[in-house]
This record gives sequence, C-alpha cells and structure tokens, in this order.
Amino acid sequence: MTETTAELRESPESTTVVVIGAGPAGLTVANLLRRSGIDCVVLERRTRERVAQRQRAGIVEARAVRMFDSWGLADQVLGSGTYDGLLEFRVDGESHLVSDDHGSGGPRARLCPQQVLVQKLTAVYLAEGGDLRFEAADVSLHDLAGDRPTVRYRTADGALRSINCAFVAGCDGDHGISRAAVPDGVLTAHAFDHGIGWLTVLADAPPPAHPLFAVSPHGFAAHFARGPHASRYYLQCPPDDHPGAWPDSRVWDALRTRLADVALLPGPITDREIFRLRSLVHDPMQYGRLFLVGDAAHIVSPLGGKGMNLALYDADLFARAVRDSIRDHDDTGLRSYSQRCLRRVWNDQEFSHWLTRTLHEAGDDTQSGSFQRGLARARLDRLFTSRNAVRAFAELMAGLNPVRHGSDFE
Ligand code: APR
Repeated sequence: MTETTAELRESPESTTVVVIGAGPAGLTVANLLRRSGIDCVVLERRTRERVAQRQRAGIVEARAVRMFDSWGLADQVLGSGTYDGLLEFRVDGESHLVSDDHGSGGPRARLCPQQVLVQKLTAVYLAEGGDLRFEAADVSLHDLAGDRPTVRYRTADGALRSINCAFVAGCDGDHGISRAAVPDGVLTAHAFDHGIGWLTVLADAPPPAHPLFAVSPHGFAAHFARGPHASRYYLQCPPDDHPGAWPDSRVWDALRTRLADVALLPGPITDREIFRLRSLVHDPMQYGRLFLVGDAAHIVSPLGGKGMNLALYDADLFARAVRDSIRDHDDTGLRSYSQRCLRRVWNDQEFSHWLTRTLHEAGDDTQSGSFQRGLARARLDRLFTSRNAVRAFAELMAGLNPVRHGSDFE
C-alpha cells in the first residue's frame, strides 16, 4: 500500500459540484447552487480572514444587480451602495461629467467593493448551511473527462480527503490549479500585454464626488471612493516600476499634478502595489466535467470594472446550466456554457481595451505616438458631445448591450 492510500483512510465523500476557490466567482456559484437545491462543497486554500480582506474592484454593474435580484440575493449581498450615476473625466484639468444612465430602466449599478461582496456571500452561504472548507491545501483534480471526477485535498491538520462529484467548478483565479489540470493542447490562450503599469494606492483620505478618471501629459490617474472616508488611487507608471520608488510625497505630488487639483487632501497610505495591465482569454472554458469560471478563464484590464462582473456572469450561467442538467436532465446550458460566456468575455474585453487605450493614449504620446493621441482625444470628444455615444458607453458600463449567441441575442 502506498503512503497516499494509507493516509486516505476514510472513504471518499460524494457531492454534486466541487467548487475550487472562494472568491466572487466561487461564492456566487455556491450560493446559486444552494438556492437551486444542489449540493456542493467549496474548497478554499486561504483562511476566511485572508479571503475577506483582499481588496479589489468596487462596481457591480446593472446587469449583475439584476442577476442577484433574480435569485433574491441583491439586498443581502450587495448592500445599498448606490451613487448618482455620474463619472468624471478630467482632461488636462477640464472636467466632463458622463452619465451611466443606460435608459433601459431597472436597477442601476451599485458601489460594492469586492471584499464586501465576498464577506456577504460567505455569510449568507454559511448561514444557509453551506459547506465551505478553508485552508484546503494541495487540491488536485482527477478523472475530469470521466463521469465522476474526484477532487483530493489536504485539511489544515494534514489529513487527506477525497470527494467524488458530477461537476467541478474551477473558480480559483488565474494562478489556480483548475486550469492547470487541463491537458496541454486543449485550451488556447489569447493574451495581450498593454505595456502599462499601474501603481494602486489605498489611503484614508476623502473620496471624490464622482469616480474620477484623469488624462494628463504626465500620465493617467484615477480616484475612486472606498467607503465614506477612504480612497483608492491609480497612477500610470512603467510596468517594471517598484512601489519603493513611490514614497508618500511623490504619490501626492503626482496625484495633484495629474488630477489637476492642487488642493487634493492627502491621508495615511494603507496599501500600495504595482501591477501590469494585461488581458487574457482561455478558449474553451470547459474540459470534460471541469468548467472554468471567472479569472480562472479570463483576465480583463481593470478600466471599465469588468473583471468581477464577468465572474458573476459566468457563475450565473454555470449554476443555471447545472440546475437544468440535474433537475430537468437538460444539458443544453452545459453544452453552450463556454460559447455563451466567451461572447460576453470578448464583448467586455473590447470595451475595457477601448477605454484603456483611450485614457492612456489621450494623455501620453511617448509610447503610442501623436497620431494615436489624436485619435484617442477624438474618441473622448465624441463621448463628451454625442448623446448617442454616451448612451452606448452607458449600456456597455451596465453590461446590458445585447450580445449575439447563435441566432439569438441576449
Ligand atoms: N485551491 C483552492 N483555492 C484556491 C487555489 C487552490 N489551489 N488557488 C486559488 N484559490 C482561491 C484563492 O485563494 C481565491 O480566494 O481561489 C480564489 C480565486 O478568487 P479570485 O482570484 O478573486 O477570482 P474570481 O473569483 O474569479 O474573481 C474575479 O475579478 O475583479 C476581478 O481579479 C478580480 O478577483 C477578481 C476577479
């Protein structure tokens, strides 16, 4: 007998879906499956405290608000963080307010930082008796192409466990084990590196009146609320820059210059990081009984706030597809999952790409040249002057533009 089988004394458990990862994607899948009466087990490698603290995006688009509403979860998991629906674009110090009113009625987007959504989804799931196992180490996936895959992992106290299931939801982000478990050659990766870095700064400093995007010859900057007394700022920088090169005084000087606000109030900086703007799509988002959900399948550059919203979109499609398969023996949703998700993924990639290029190239022509700068300025002028351009922008922000699926639009 090998050491591994000797350690695996208990017989395998059995469930319908094993969800790998308790980020927005995994927790949404788990909550929606529970609401559909379908068993699942969530395995998360970190502690509950660590997962609850990871700070990320803050806007839940109108489409996702409707989605949570349709499951009776919106008020429980999103809170009441509405805003007045105006975004500010400040170009060389001149302010332009753009409305996110998409004109189709229904709920608007909500301000809800990702960690708040994660905390609330966790609380609701556990309160309703959900099975969520933190500190699950060495998760591995087996027999994904068969009828009953197996998921193995090690508990916090070192015991090996094994779970048989009908489906695996790979919700473990870009560096997880789910996508890595797919044999070589099955998935195609479509990648784009913008060649741009962002310094992100979190500070206990007054939030702006509206989410603020600033274009300046010194580089792009942005300022967003993180609750009533805190702000998150972004500053364009070289992608290989180091946070140590940005002491507090340099951060505040650069923000005052790029936001064209000499009176900008500083505050204690609580976090600062640098990351590279990149975009990535894996196609297909499925292998056998493994379905990739959220960042495990795609990364979107942050402008437009689509990363978390796409994860919520995938989670909803996956949960409904599993429900139809288990309850009604209808596998249509499972078969079309990847294709339907990818249509929206490419739609949102295009929007984020457009916004990213526009806001960076309109200010700084050192990377992309003066011709691209002229085009980017023309796109912004159109957004500030054409009612139809604003409406199209708002519809994309809301996630409500129709996306073709086969011969239908959804
Ligand atoms: N085993 C178990 N859990 C894992 C493993 C693993 N091997 N690897 C990663 N995880 C967990 C992470 O600890 C994390 O809690 O999976 C979770 C993945 O969460 P996210 O990275 O947040 O990804 P996702 O849920 O798809 O969220 C969408 O949208 O706003 C963007 O990138 C932002 O995280 C956000 C994402």
